[in-house]
Amino acid sequence: MKTSKKLKVLAGLSAFVFVGIAAVKQPNTDQFKNLQVLPKNITADSLDKIMDRFTANLGVDCKYCHVRDKKADTLIFDKDDKAEKEIARNMMRMTTDINEKYFHFNEEVKASEVQAVTCFTCHRGQPMPVKGQGAKK
Ligand code: HEC
Ligand code: HEC
Repeated sequence: MKTSKKLKVLAGLSAFVFVGIAAVKQPNTDQFKNLQVLPKNITADSLDKIMDRFTANLGVDCKYCHVRDKKADTLIFDKDDKAEKEIARNMMRMTTDINEKYFHFNEEVKASEVQAVTCFTCHRGQPMPVKGQGAKK
């Protein structure tokens, strides 16, 4: 993914709390090991905000997507052992695509001021979005 696209990913995911893009552009020692969607030089602060939003928007905790090391009793955040993490990556890409294609979302605009789709738009605090009336059977 190109850098500009990654910045858009970040902007899109930060729709409610505006994360200064300038902070992301600054050279930084890449402290995270396995970022495939977010910018590799993202600050710890921006990454924390995004992860906190995932938990709130889906009504889950960190271990829903991140695998636990049973011996050390800690989460290994860079590992990809849980399917939910890869699904979340695809959801991040999809959310960005929707915002780009239909909301003309870009890094020049303040995220808090544009109408944009976030994880919450569909998930409403649930890991599995509730199906609408039409889908009831
Ligand atoms: C809905 C799934 C989901 C939840 C919940 C979640 N994460 Fe993540 N997390 C991800 C995904 C996906 C990535 C990788 C993003 C990428 O590839 O750019 C990631 C990456 C990370 C990384 C970077 C690891 C590395 O070195 O590559 C850290 C640290 C992290 N998450 C911490 C947390 C914390 C702390 C919580 C709980 C507050 C949390 N996450 C909750 C999906 C989630
Ligand atoms: C346009 C609506 C929409 C948006 C936006 C959306 N999701 Fe989803 N998500 C869904 C639907 C629908 C499913 C259930 C898919 C299925 O039934 O297989 C789902 C499933 C998931 C799952 C798997 C749940 C499970 O238990 O299998 C994860 C994890 C997830 N989404 C994370 C996210 C994250 C993180 C975001 C924001 C970056 C996000 N989603 C944004 C509609 C959405």
